[in-house]
Amino acid sequence: MAECQFKNIVILTGAGISAESGIATFRDKNGLWENHDVMEVASPDGFRRDPELVYRFYNERRKQLLSKEVTPNPAHEALARLEKEFQGKMTIITQNVDDLHERGGSQNVLHMHGELLKIRCQRTRKVFEEKGTINSQSICECCNLEGTLRPHIVWFGEVPMFMDKIENLLREADLFVSIGTSGQVYPASMFVQMAKLENDCVTIEANLEKTQISWNFDKSLLGKAGDIVPGLVDKILAGEL
Ligand code: APR
Repeated sequence: MAECQFKNIVILTGAGISAESGIATFRDKNGLWENHDVMEVASPDGFRRDPELVYRFYNERRKQLLSKEVTPNPAHEALARLEKEFQGKMTIITQNVDDLHERGGSQNVLHMHGELLKIRCQRTRKVFEEKGTINSQSICECCNLEGTLRPHIVWFGEVPMFMDKIENLLREADLFVSIGTSGQVYPASMFVQMAKLENDCVTIEANLEKTQISWNFDKSLLGKAGDIVPGLVDKILAGEL
């Protein structure tokens, strides 16, 4: 059997990898996200206008994520296997705020758009774990005040997390795989080009359908993540890409 030829693997994931786990993607055909205008519930302006709506929205998303119907699928599990069996360095950069990669067994995960099971104090920027509900009367543990807490989510117009680290990872990457993302949201939509900037990085996209950035990739695999990713991981590990 051939040996895996890669040393630095970067995997980017988006909502599509969690779709088979029962979490809706963002850009459904009707342009709504769980029946809301995305800007209403995922922007600082929306939060300013109607904080209760935004709290309620993320409380519901948190409850859904923790329900027994939502579990990691074979794509999450295959990526955890890759991390375990691959001899080099592998990082998952996810735009998803769910914890399905971690529950699937992955350890090296960067949540560039934040995490649903965390909240943040807007005064001190301290981050806390949260599995229940919050509202504008919730009292922050660090400053003992009402109304300072917000979801630990990167909203439209806000800067994604870990960008310095991500740039370095992409610079080093010799394999970049993008899974289940429409490529419509900057900066993640640029990662494939960043990965190719300085070295001969192999780039693969795995998605249900072609995206507007498919042309940037060496190869596009079409289908459900849960069907495609386990086989792709086998090929990477066997040096058969
Ligand atoms: N397997 C693979 N791909 C799938 C599957 C599946 N089972 N189901 C859907 N997809 C694909 C869709 O075809 C689409 O191209 O996943 C993609 C999901 O795209 P989006 O809904 O736009 O999600 P994403 O790219 O993650 O969005 C990026 O936008 O709203 C913001 O912050 C939010 O992180 C999010 C960011």
